[in-house]
Amino acid sequence: MNLPAARGPITAALFGRLTGPPGGEPLAVHEVDDEDLHLALFVCYELHYQGFDEVDERWEWEPSLLRTRAELERRFESALRELVPRPPAVPPQEVRRALAELVAADDGPPLSTFLQREASLEQFREFVVHRSIYHLKEADPHSWAIPRLRGRAKAALVEIQSDEYGGGRPERMHSELFRATMRGLGLDDSYGAHLGRVPAATLAISNAMSLFGLHRRLRGASIGHLAAFEMTSSLPNRRYAAGLRRLGGDATATRFYDEHVQADAVHEQIAAHDLCGAFALDHPSLAGDVLYGAACALTLERLWAAQVMSRWLRGTTSLLGEVVAA
Ligand SMILES: [Fe+2]
Ligand SMILES: [Fe+2]
Repeated sequence: MNLPAARGPITAALFGRLTGPPGGEPLAVHEVDDEDLHLALFVCYELHYQGFDEVDERWEWEPSLLRTRAELERRFESALRELVPRPPAVPPQEVRRALAELVAADDGPPLSTFLQREASLEQFREFVVHRSIYHLKEADPHSWAIPRLRGRAKAALVEIQSDEYGGGRPERMHSELFRATMRGLGLDDSYGAHLGRVPAATLAISNAMSLFGLHRRLRGASIGHLAAFEMTSSLPNRRYAAGLRRLGGDATATRFYDEHVQADAVHEQIAAHDLCGAFALDHPSLAGDVLYGAACALTLERLWAAQVMSRWLRGTTSLLGEVVAA
């Protein structure tokens, strides 16, 4: 994976440093717009995942880089606090019900219905490009929470993640199923191929997962985030599968979505009850964080979907520049 094009002064300075030897002073972050902020943060986090071909691996724990990242995170966390009201606190035994209510109250734009019934092939490809930022590393950001949990909650998270990673069969890893979907649509399926094409709203979805996953203090938010993902997955994935079939996708291309209809109907139960419910009972003071993480997931998803839909309804692309073909 290569570094994408810079989107402003922070990414320009950051990428300039990352292509040299580790060291130096933290970057001075003054005014930063969303595109610059989220791409910079995404690239900082990516050093903990697959990294970049041209970046020395020692940058991962370079103190000056971590201090720059902390400043970017501070801005993202404060933006999230403004954007996402903290759900009312509930007793730990009520967390499962409160999660279900949050999900039920979520009224996002009808993106999945649009993809099912109306989207053009080009729009479906755009959708897949946006999603590739997460799905090609599917499950990784929430795996950071595993060593931060104990007992029932840990066992529940591992049970979910084991499915996401294919249960010992690499070809069944969800990230691999998604690559087949990308190939079926004639898209480059290599990791990070489309990073330069997705806007801040898409990057923010992944950045929230990495933020919650990489900070132990946010472990409650991390599992609440995962629960919201799982609880809002089964029905939309049924629609995505139907939309892709309508556009000529074969069984290999639609398998990722078909698989999630079944898998996430189970995962949502494990996530809400065994993971978040048990965690809240063991850590009553963190029950509110679980709900906050779920609310962040729902809000960022809603904002992203609204942006994509509004571009499409105006007849323009939701991506930055052209889609990278296979
Ligand atoms: Fe999955
Ligand atoms: Fe899942």
